[in-house]
Amino acid sequence: MKEMIQKLKSQFETKLKDVNDQKSLEDLRLDFLSKKGQITQLMKELSKVPNEQKKEAGQLINSFKQEVLERYEGKKEQLISLQEKLLIDGAESYDDSMPTGCPCGSYHPITLVQRELEDIFESMGFDVEDYNEIVDDYHCFEALNIPKYHPARDMQDTYYLTTKNQLLKSHTSAAQNAILKKYGKDLKEKGRPIRAVFPGRCFRNEAIDACHENTFFQMEGIMVDKDISVSNLIYFMKTMLSEVFSKEVTVRLRPGFFPFVEPGFELDIQCLICEGEGCSSCKNSGWLELCPCGMIHPNVLKYGGINTEENPYEYTGFAFGLGLTRLAMMKYGVKDIRTFNSGDLSSLSQFVSR
Ligand code: PHE
Repeated sequence: MKEMIQKLKSQFETKLKDVNDQKSLEDLRLDFLSKKGQITQLMKELSKVPNEQKKEAGQLINSFKQEVLERYEGKKEQLISLQEKLLIDGAESYDDSMPTGCPCGSYHPITLVQRELEDIFESMGFDVEDYNEIVDDYHCFEALNIPKYHPARDMQDTYYLTTKNQLLKSHTSAAQNAILKKYGKDLKEKGRPIRAVFPGRCFRNEAIDACHENTFFQMEGIMVDKDISVSNLIYFMKTMLSEVFSKEVTVRLRPGFFPFVEPGFELDIQCLICEGEGCSSCKNSGWLELCPCGMIHPNVLKYGGINTEENPYEYTGFAFGLGLTRLAMMKYGVKDIRTFNSGDLSSLSQFVSR
């Protein structure tokens, strides 16, 4: 037995020396360590060994197997670090069949919710738009019927840049004016309704706690055409939310004030946990406040070049501002909003899209 092991050992060492990529490493593993490999064959030889020598022979095989395993793992590590070096140096001999040793990444829960919503809205004919995070006072407030010194600005205190009139947008509504202008031409000339959603990061000067963040995500949506009414708004919101929560949701509207919509609403959904009975998640009310919305104010449509002074009601439309961060908290049961910006991978890498 000793000689057999000795022979195999030198065979293994010679082959190991020639291993220089993933493929030859795997061949070596198959040759020695797999179920049909040489070490298993060696074990079978054990039955031929006289009984009194069996124990010693068994130990010899085991320690040989251990040694082979260690040498194999060592080589694997060596190849991985070589591979990483090649990746860094950008060398041409990069072997893409090698494991890089880097763990797989995962999507941020907000990204998952955002993409899911984008798919749903795209399937309903909406365009998905991207918009700046730094905007000017006109787009964030004035074009939305919030003049300078209007008290509604207090609810949306944000971060101002030293460059004149620039600020970090406090809501995705800041893109409304640009989007009305971008799609207005097609609406008027080709009769193509404006249907757009625009997700984005928003900022507010907030004291941070488990429910408040100074940096959060919203997804705004608008639809403008002739004869758009509140019933269109309710239909779209209900369809979209039923998709997101994978079940039929019941919604209700309450009056809400936002200078850029008239009438304005707070849209609530019936609590998904207690189905309206009242529980701790909905503070016993049976309803969850989810999304401010309303019919776009005539001034906003006028500033966006949609309606004229002479014909201020030719086109109408609705707008809604979904809190993406809030939705992600509800969907995944995240209790503390600070988790999202924490950069803590042990929390953030757990989420998967449905
Ligand atoms: N922009 C508003 C906010 O962030 C939400 C909103 C959007 C309200 C669209 C009505 C219509 O508070």
